This record gives sequence, C-alpha cells and structure tokens, in this order.
Amino acid sequence: MDIAEISYQLEHTGYIVLAKPLADELLAGLYTRCHDGDPARFHAAQVGRGAAKKQIGSIRGDVIDWLDANNSTDQAYLACMEELRLGLNATLYLGLFDYECHYAIYGEGDGYAKHSDVLQGKKNRILTTVLYLNEDWQACDGGELVVFEPTGQSVITTVNPTFGTMIIFLSESFPHEVLVSHATRRSIAGWFRVSGS
Ligand code: OGA
Ligand code: MN
Repeated sequence: MDIAEISYQLEHTGYIVLAKPLADELLAGLYTRCHDGDPARFHAAQVGRGAAKKQIGSIRGDVIDWLDANNSTDQAYLACMEELRLGLNATLYLGLFDYECHYAIYGEGDGYAKHSDVLQGKKNRILTTVLYLNEDWQACDGGELVVFEPTGQSVITTVNPTFGTMIIFLSESFPHEVLVSHATRRSIAGWFRVSGS
C-alpha cells in the first residue's frame, strides 16, 4: 500500500478510495474466506456497545464474522493492516493502537442506515477501513456506500463495492450509509483505534 499517498489524502481530505491496494492472491484468499459455506460463522450484527447493544435489522442488515488470528489468510490481511498502522503512525502521528475487523455479508434487501462509526461515549475509533469483495458488481445491484460531509447534509462521495476497492476515512468526521443491496454484498469492515476502549 502507498502509505505516502494514503497519509496525504487523510491529512488533506480525511478519506481516500483505493482501486486495488492489495495483491490479487490475498484478495482471492479473502474472497474464499467470505464464501466458504459455513453460515454458522456469521451472526447478526448489532448496533451500539455494551448494555446498549441491540440487533435492529431495520437499521443494519448484515451478518458478520470477526477475523480469525489463527487463519493464515486472515493473518495475511491483518499483517497488511499492521504495516499500514505503523506507516500512518510514523507519518501522521495518529497513535493508532490496534485494528479490529470483521467480514460482513449483506443479503438482498439489506443496508445500513446513516450512522457514525464512533460509538457513544467512546472516541477510540479513529480510522474506518472497508474492503469490498464483490466480483462483477453491477450498478443495478445497489449497495453503494454513501459518505456525507461532517454535518451529514451533503454527500461527498459514493463508492461502489467492487472487488478489491478499499475506502479509508476518519471515523469521527464522516457519517455514512450503505444503500439497500439487491445482491449479496461482501466486505471487510475494520477500525484502527487508540487505546482506552
Ligand atoms: C460499517 C459500515 C460500510 C460498508 O460496517 O460500519 O459502515 O460499505 N460499512 O460496508
Ligand atoms: Mn460504518
């Protein structure tokens, strides 16, 4: 990954969309991991944190599975993100402490209403990353990520969840929404955090 380019964009605009930052072999492995036919691995995503956590399908329809540090493919992805973490700390002094991420699958008709990734009362999510794993995604499949400027009034970018695309943005600055998907939509969503969770 081009740390200098990512740092520059994060500093100047707060987000960057990368067409294909990861190697084909790694992407192929991640694609397989997200398709490997064990639905029991995935569970309904929840909204909120701690006692306030709830599953509300009308807000958020995806099922998720956190990456497994014992799986070699997941390890390879985590290693790339670790390299990015160290690189961004060195260039932007962000003090990123760790990275958490999960596979997410949205079925037909699912989306995620406009929200912020910073959980209430906590400011520990600094950067959001989303990597998309959808081959042959068509415009009619919907499922775009819509990113709003900080007040939430106007759209700054719309991202199609096409294979290999990654967006990175400042978690606190950009409300965002996943439009209803008309096909199965797969991704890895993750967050670089500072300590103190
Ligand atoms: C999230 C999220 C965006 C996407 O999981 O918090 O906003 O495009 N995901 O999948
Ligand atoms: Mn989000």
